[in-house]
Amino acid sequence: MKFRPFSLEDWFAEYELQCRINISESGILPIDFSWFDTDLSDLKLYYGHMLGDLELRELIARDYPDLSPDRILVTTGCIEANFVAFASLVQPGDHVIVEHPNYQQLYEVPRALGGRVELLRLRYEDNYKLNVDELNEMVTPKTKLIVISHPNNPTGSVITLETLKSIIEIVEDNNIYLLSDEIYRELSFTHKPLPPAATLSDHAISNSSMSKLHGLPGLRIGWMVADKAIVDIAKEIRSYTTICDSTLSEHLSKLALKRKEELMTRAERIAKTNLEVMRRWVENRDDVDWVPPEGSLVTFPRFYRNVTSTELCKLLAENYRVFVAPGKCFDIESHFRIGFGWSTDELREGLEFVGRALDRFEPIRK
Ligand SMILES: Cc1ncc(COP(=O)(O)O)c(C=O)c1O
Repeated sequence: MKFRPFSLEDWFAEYELQCRINISESGILPIDFSWFDTDLSDLKLYYGHMLGDLELRELIARDYPDLSPDRILVTTGCIEANFVAFASLVQPGDHVIVEHPNYQQLYEVPRALGGRVELLRLRYEDNYKLNVDELNEMVTPKTKLIVISHPNNPTGSVITLETLKSIIEIVEDNNIYLLSDEIYRELSFTHKPLPPAATLSDHAISNSSMSKLHGLPGLRIGWMVADKAIVDIAKEIRSYTTICDSTLSEHLSKLALKRKEELMTRAERIAKTNLEVMRRWVENRDDVDWVPPEGSLVTFPRFYRNVTSTELCKLLAENYRVFVAPGKCFDIESHFRIGFGWSTDELREGLEFVGRALDRFEPIRK
C-alpha cells in the first residue's frame, strides 16, 4: 500500500499551533473534562470488547432505528471506521466512485488499497449538488463502492432524501455498496437531517463519531454501522490495527451520549450564531463568493484575488497568526475552508484578517 501525503492534516501540523486564531477547525469547540462531573477512580482500564462496549453500542443504536447493536463496530474515530470499511470491501482493481471535494481520506485510502478511484465532481456552479444521473452513468461492472459524505466537508452541501434513496437504488440494482460518511448528519440548517443510510439498506454503511458535533474529538471514538457480514470482516481487520477502543474513552462517550441532547443543542446554537457572522462577512466582500452551507460546520468560500490559496493562507498564518486551510488541501484553487464551530469573537476577528490579507492582492474579474 502506498499512501500519498494527507495535505489537510499536514497543513494543520505545520501551521495550526503557531497561530493565535483558528478559524478552520471542522468541529464544534471541544468541551472541557469538567463537563462530565465524574469520578473515574474505580474505572478499570481493561482491554475493551472487540465490537465496542455493549452499553455504548446500545446508546449509539438509538440513532439507527431497527438496527441491533451487533451491526455496530466502535472504532478509533470516524477515520478508523472509514479505513476498516474500505479495507473490508476494496480489492485491487475495484472501481470506486468518490464525491469530490471531500475529506481526503475518502479517496486516498481506496486508492492506496489498489482501487481505481474515479471522482464525481460536486461543482460550485451547481451549488455543490450531487448529480444522480452523472453518478449512475459512472457505474461499470467493475464498480464496487460509491462514497459520499453529506453534509459535505468542505462545502457544507447536503443531499435530499430523494437523492439518497436514488443512490441506494443504484447500489442495490448493481449489487454494490454505499459508504456514507455521516459525521455531520445531524447538523442540517435547511433540511431535516437525513436518516442514516445504513437504516435504509443492507448495501449501505454509515460512519460517524463523537468528534464534530459532540465536541469530543480527543476521545477518538467513532463507529461503523453496516450489514453484520461487513461488521464481522471489519472487526477482524481492526484486530490488526487498534484491537479495541480506549476503555476510558468508551466510558466518557457513554456519559456524553446519555446527555446527547445538551451537546446537540450547544452545537446548533454555536453553528447558527457563527454562520450569521460568516454570512455578513461574505456579503460585505466583493472579492468573495460562496455557496452558503446547508449543514456541517465548514464552508468553502471562493475568492477573486491574484494569489494562490496556499500563498494566501501562508500569509495569514505567518503575518497575522490566523489559521485557515487553503483550497489546495482539497485540490481546488481560489478557495479556503472556514470552520464556524469555534469562538464567535475569534471568527469575527479572524475574518477581519482574512479581509486584510485579501486586500493585499490584485482583484481579478469574476
Ligand atoms: C468527513 C470526515 N470524516 C472523517 C473525519 C475524521 O473524524 P474523526 O476525528 O472522528 O476520526 C473527518 C475529520 O475532519 C471528516 O471531516
